Amino acid sequence: MHPLLSLCVFWLLPVALVLEDASPLDCVPRKTVPHDMVKAHLFHEKGVFNYSTMLLREDLDLLLLGAREAVYALDLNNISKKHASVKWEVTKEQKDECTNKGKDPEKDCMNYIRILHKMEDNRMYVCGTNAFDPECDYMSYADGKLTLEKKEEDGKGKCPFDPSQRYSSIMVDNNLYSATSINFLGSEPILMRSSPVSIRTEFKTSWLNEPHFVSMAQMPESDKNEEGDDDKVYLFFSETAVECDCYNKLMVSRVARVCKGDLGGQRTLQKKWTSFLKARMDCPVLESQLPHIIQDTYLWCDPQLHWKDCMFYAIFTPQWGTSDLSAVCAYKVSEISKVFAQGKYKTPVPVETSFVKWVMYSGDVPVPRPGACINNEARKAGINQTLDLPDRTLQFIKDRPLMDQSIQPIGDKPLLVRRGATFTRIIVNEMQDADGEMYHVMFVGTDEGTMLKAVNYDGEMFIIEEIQLFDPPEPIKILKFSNVTAQLYAGSDYGAAQIPLASCERSSSCMDCILARDPYCGWDNVVRKCVALSSSQRKLIQSLKKGDASLCPDADPFKPVNRSIWPGSNTKLHCPSSSNLAGTRWERDKQRLTPSDRFQLQQDGLYIFNVSDRDGGRYRCLSVERSKTNEYTTTVAEYQLTIATAGSGKSIDTLSPQAQKDGPSVAGLQAVVAILVISLLVLLAWNFYKGHIPLPCKCGKKNGQQSHEEGGLNPEWHHEAQRSAAAEDKPMVSGRDKIGK
Ligand SMILES: *[C@@H]1O[C@H](CO)[C@@H](O)[C@H](O)[C@H]1NC(C)=O
Ligand SMILES: *[C@@H]1O[C@H](CO)[C@@H](O)[C@H](O)[C@H]1NC(C)=O
Ligand SMILES: *[C@@H]1O[C@H](CO)[C@@H](O)[C@H](O)[C@H]1NC(C)=O
Ligand SMILES: *[C@@H]1O[C@H](CO)[C@@H](O)[C@H](O)[C@H]1NC(C)=O
Ligand SMILES: *[C@@H]1O[C@H](CO)[C@@H](O)[C@H](O)[C@H]1NC(C)=O
Ligand SMILES: *[C@@H]1O[C@H](CO)[C@@H](O)[C@H](O)[C@H]1NC(C)=O
Repeated sequence: MHPLLSLCVFWLLPVALVLEDASPLDCVPRKTVPHDMVKAHLFHEKGVFNYSTMLLREDLDLLLLGAREAVYALDLNNISKKHASVKWEVTKEQKDECTNKGKDPEKDCMNYIRILHKMEDNRMYVCGTNAFDPECDYMSYADGKLTLEKKEEDGKGKCPFDPSQRYSSIMVDNNLYSATSINFLGSEPILMRSSPVSIRTEFKTSWLNEPHFVSMAQMPESDKNEEGDDDKVYLFFSETAVECDCYNKLMVSRVARVCKGDLGGQRTLQKKWTSFLKARMDCPVLESQLPHIIQDTYLWCDPQLHWKDCMFYAIFTPQWGTSDLSAVCAYKVSEISKVFAQGKYKTPVPVETSFVKWVMYSGDVPVPRPGACINNEARKAGINQTLDLPDRTLQFIKDRPLMDQSIQPIGDKPLLVRRGATFTRIIVNEMQDADGEMYHVMFVGTDEGTMLKAVNYDGEMFIIEEIQLFDPPEPIKILKFSNVTAQLYAGSDYGAAQIPLASCERSSSCMDCILARDPYCGWDNVVRKCVALSSSQRKLIQSLKKGDASLCPDADPFKPVNRSIWPGSNTKLHCPSSSNLAGTRWERDKQRLTPSDRFQLQQDGLYIFNVSDRDGGRYRCLSVERSKTNEYTTTVAEYQLTIATAGSGKSIDTLSPQAQKDGPSVAGLQAVVAILVISLLVLLAWNFYKGHIPLPCKCGKKNGQQSHEEGGLNPEWHHEAQRSAAAEDKPMVSGRDKIGK
């Protein structure tokens, strides 16, 4: 082992172990919803890929979806319904030119739609990479048709050349603010406003240093502002740190902001931002030694409240594959704004001939304050616009756009941390529970096509469910929310999907409904169903913070399933678990069943091998789940097992109705052999896996029987296992003593 590596392992290990004990990190979703259980509206057009740009047009009841060489107008209520589409393909000449410059004709030299914004006149502004020669155009929707005006506007600085490069843009007052690279090589990053006089960033590494642009948002800070401050546009990105003394490149997360009224300087910073300030953003994930990197943000504002109460939710992922923990942190806009308005600056000081160190600037700061918007104080001094700013202020900000202080998340720690699939996008929605309390529900897309729905209940991270939105698993590239339809829209390279905020009917019992702790759902005692709060007039049972299922009425008594089995055969009694946080327990004739060679307890059922005459009786499967208040036990399945005796030919007919439904009763020998081989392989694989990964996960902790990682790491296995299990009641001889623990 490399000495440095061993040092690193030595360094990280104690931290990891401490975490396992306290376990504030890594949160297991309570429910895992497979793709076929998600009632999503899907959209995909044959031969078209990269559905990664969206514009909600609630005024037209449309979702505009930008893909590769095409834009679609879809029904906002059911995106499977396509109302119109328009192609925007590159010409043969453009493609040839792009190919001649050394780009891949099938990947790079196409037109990837990257920008879709609404204009004040109701038209839309569209830009595409256009075979490494970005171009923009105007688009309108009328009489059920989408039309491009073919204006062929230059898209340089607005839209990336390279479709794989991250970028961001926003339309504010009909002016496009864009953050992207302005050259073919992708080496000249800018933040630009395309107004009649376009304003942009300086080409200096202290301004932007190999950035990855993430997102933008505007903030109406002039609203009721006593200082007469201007509105702002915020930009989130990551870049190579200039301020750290390290030999390797270290990435850091940043927030930058500019003033809407910025017109640039007169001599210094001509046609450049005079208000570009940036600060580091932290999201401390304990286990990691290197800062996590920002990937997406969502601006959450309560329309009733002041802009100062708005919050940015941001997702962070590890750099250099140093860990597999993704996180969500939230920031107060007022905190960010304060750092820019009052914080100290960093300044470069040469240390050796070629080395520069960035330290806090403690000298005199010129007036007006560098980077500040034009406010009442400046106006009093006769400075009405940035063109009037003195050179001293401008020179200062040109050299020192970085703030000394970094921005810390609310509570100084993440709201959510999850091991496994990398977070890609986030949406936050506020929901009022049955008692009138407000909760922020986070919807987080991952690079495995799943969406997590999570809430932080007074510091407790809780993932209500993990939904497999895209199958095969494809990274979620864009996520949008419409408060008009109350639906979520997601896009991936292969298609788009639409789902409601909640599907309460997935909980069939009151206990499941309450323990789900989903702010959107409650138990209706009259219809005896888990229903959406928004659709019900009645008082519903809910217990979000505590998960107090004792509020539930007694469950209906269970009707046992009758089963008759031949002695010497094997069988499986199904017990589907509705929660990953629950353990299962089996009873026979009210006696707790202990696992043995012949009785093996699995996540989804009980295996009985070599059934003997004494095995008859009443079998009951109980699900045991802990919440904050208590441990709750519910009956999930019940079986009356009778052992067939020789001569009772009838018993073959009654043999397991379940098996007849699930298993191929007339399958040939070949099928049986195939199933056996598959189960053998699966079991072998599982053993292999079990034996070779010593302590990777904390997730299994809460579970009685089995680690969740099996399902999570290898869903394939899970399916195989279920499939082979479904074909039970056939002799199963393969490695039976290895199934349980
Ligand atoms: C959504 O639209 C598709 C395509 O038109 C249609 O097949 C489907 O039934 C619609 N779904 C609903 C719930 O309306
Ligand atoms: C576009 O989609 C294809 C898969 O269909 C993927 O291989 C490619 O990386 C995507 N390109 C971009 C720029 O997202
Ligand atoms: C600034 O605006 C005020 C009022 O609009 C005006 O009186 C003043 O002359 C302006 N100053 C400059 C330097 O243009
Ligand atoms: C949706 O959000 C917008 C902007 O926040 C707000 O103006 C509008 O009232 C909201 N609509 C509904 C139906 O809540
Ligand atoms: C199971 O068998 C019992 C009698 O042995 C009978 O009363 C009951 O109805 C049967 N249940 C089912 C679901 O067939
Ligand atoms: C099944 O159980 C019987 C006794 O109940 C025993 O004689 C027999 O060897 C067992 N068969 C297997 C394959 O273990």
